[in-house]
Amino acid sequence: PIGHRVADLLGRMTLPEKVGQLLQLDARDDLDDHVLRRNTGSILHTSPERVVRAHALTARTRLRIPLLVAEDCIHGHSFHVGATIFPTQLGMAASWDAELLAAVARATAVEAAATGVHWTFSPVLCIARDLRWGRVDETFGEDPVLIGELASAMVRGYQGGGLTDTTAVLATAKHFAGYSETQGGRDASEADLSRRKLRSWFLPPFERVAREGCRTFMLGYQTTDGVPITVNSWLLDEVLRGEWGYTGTLVTDWDNVGRMVWEQRVQPDHAHAAAAAVRAGNDMVMATPLFFEGALEAVADGLLAEGDLDRAVARVLTLKFELGLFEDPRLPDAARQAAVIGSAEHAALNLRVARRSLVLLRNDGTLPLDGDRATGRIAVVGPLADDAQTQLGDWAGSSGQADWLPDGQPREMITTVLDGLRALVPAGWEVVHERGADILDLVPDPEGATFPDGQPRPPVVLPCEPDPELIAAAVAAARAADWVVAVVGDRIELVGEGRSTATLELVGGQNALLDALVATGTPVVVVLLASKPLVLPRSAGDAAALLWVANPGMRGGQAIAEVLLGAVEPTGRLPISFARHAGQQPTYYNQVRGQHGNRYADLTQEPAFAFGEGLSYTTVEYADLAVDAPVVGQDDRVEARVTVRNTGARPTRETVQAYVSDNVTSVSWADKELKAFTQVDLAPGESAVVRLAIPVGDCAIVDAAGRRVVEPGEFTLLVGPSSRDADLLRAGFTVKQA
Ligand code: IFM
Repeated sequence: PIGHRVADLLGRMTLPEKVGQLLQLDARDDLDDHVLRRNTGSILHTSPERVVRAHALTARTRLRIPLLVAEDCIHGHSFHVGATIFPTQLGMAASWDAELLAAVARATAVEAAATGVHWTFSPVLCIARDLRWGRVDETFGEDPVLIGELASAMVRGYQGGGLTDTTAVLATAKHFAGYSETQGGRDASEADLSRRKLRSWFLPPFERVAREGCRTFMLGYQTTDGVPITVNSWLLDEVLRGEWGYTGTLVTDWDNVGRMVWEQRVQPDHAHAAAAAVRAGNDMVMATPLFFEGALEAVADGLLAEGDLDRAVARVLTLKFELGLFEDPRLPDAARQAAVIGSAEHAALNLRVARRSLVLLRNDGTLPLDGDRATGRIAVVGPLADDAQTQLGDWAGSSGQADWLPDGQPREMITTVLDGLRALVPAGWEVVHERGADILDLVPDPEGATFPDGQPRPPVVLPCEPDPELIAAAVAAARAADWVVAVVGDRIELVGEGRSTATLELVGGQNALLDALVATGTPVVVVLLASKPLVLPRSAGDAAALLWVANPGMRGGQAIAEVLLGAVEPTGRLPISFARHAGQQPTYYNQVRGQHGNRYADLTQEPAFAFGEGLSYTTVEYADLAVDAPVVGQDDRVEARVTVRNTGARPTRETVQAYVSDNVTSVSWADKELKAFTQVDLAPGESAVVRLAIPVGDCAIVDAAGRRVVEPGEFTLLVGPSSRDADLLRAGFTVKQA
């Protein structure tokens, strides 16, 4: 019956009404113009008030086709004041816990749906390989298997009980595909990728969620092999809709259609750009109002067949019918909002995921801080110790894009590191605070005071110089303390779309601050509150401990304090490698085998901290790795077991990682790749036999002809607590001829 309803409606639509259905326009602009003149089919960047107004305008249109309401709910309902803001996607990935992420996505969907949102632009499936890229924080890190597993869980969480579930939202797999493969880390530069490289690493996570029913895909900004992804029919038609049988919706990224005219200059005007985008199979054109005029002109001039347009419109209408929007447009519901947004249940989940997102990278035994002492004095130092805004990260109400919201997230919902420590230190202990350094200054734009048209230029943000007075005050506090907790990292202005960084070092006065603090001799615990892996100064190597916390969300400060004080065991593991120097890029662990040792004359290529790494306060030993059947067929599974034993005095959750190395391949290939992982809870002294099963099909490579094949021969299974060779036990297995 939906097919009939779509055909009937399509048959009654005028050309401008059809074109409008393919538009997704910014609800912060002139809504009257968008809805009444352009018949827009979808809006993004909403608020409950804007949604209500847009629906009311739609009711005044001839056919009253309901709107599809979309929003960037990235790590929580990002732009809704009072919503639960979780750690960033990269932070959550450090939990390596798919079910936890599914729960986060479910909670986000419930909050968003109550405000009239039908569709979120999450999760991000890009592979983060160049740490200078401004959007590393939005990814699940550097490994396609981890990305696929966590993305699949989030899609399940968002999409809940399916299209008719009014507490669910449509998920988006973005940014299809290869967007992160930047030049020098610069956002949205050309992605220089062969089809074989795409098939080897960049496409598999997308293929997985496409086959599992992710309802929408968003295209990236990038050009690959000279073709903007928006019109890349090999990827869209042949691979996505053809090979993978994807039947969901395709949305462009922000003004991708217009950018082909004014930025990439591969289309002469909006008529040609609109025709090319529709013919390539896009359904929704985001934030290109001129697509309306362009598509009308394209049909009039014979550049675009109305049949091609109809196919896209039919797909949009089908989705709206399947969602039941013609019967119930799912308007914002004030009572539901009051019950679910920022609820205690979601706050508790947020705390759980924040705890699991923290990665302890170094510890000389100073942590956990000795709670048995009757007295203790902690100097909490650093520009981010009490920075609620940066703690939430990008895509949050009070982020650098503050203009997206009438005001920021309520401060009282956020626990900073300083708040957390003040609240949780044992009775009799003292917490003192010094900022110690600043990160950025607002300075007049060096390009001049005004634009060519005479308008004033706003100030720009630049790294500031160390401030000797701030450092002196911090040093005095450190000398008088038992421990220093130094909270350093990156500010929100250095993170996000179009905000890549040329360097990875701590900015502003932070390096000088760390040098001075470590020189005092008081044990310094560095809390690295950084959206992505950064490069720390040499002095940080002499610090007592290092904890990476990403942007840990609203409850992050409490979780951090609990870990520092030993109430919670650190169990996070790196989803991405840390570099020693920006010039080492890329440092991801699964690079193809090279020659000459693949290293520099002046620096090792070893990362500072490797994928999978992370410490706990207890220790876990691995022993007795054994493969059940050392000779397997192409359709079998490699079954193995390993014994893990908690050799310390505290309970923990261990992430057991299984990598596979194909000993000899017909084409160059990664030396080892993650194939499976599992988590096991271990009491002190407890040991467990962990079973691992890897389908032999997952041990495929992509051969010179671009085919995914398992090449018969010798393989090595490597199991341990991280991707570092020294951490891994080995066992061989053989794959027989097919
Ligand atoms: O969803 C985002 C995308 O990730 C980057 N460009 C803008 C879109 C909509 O805000």
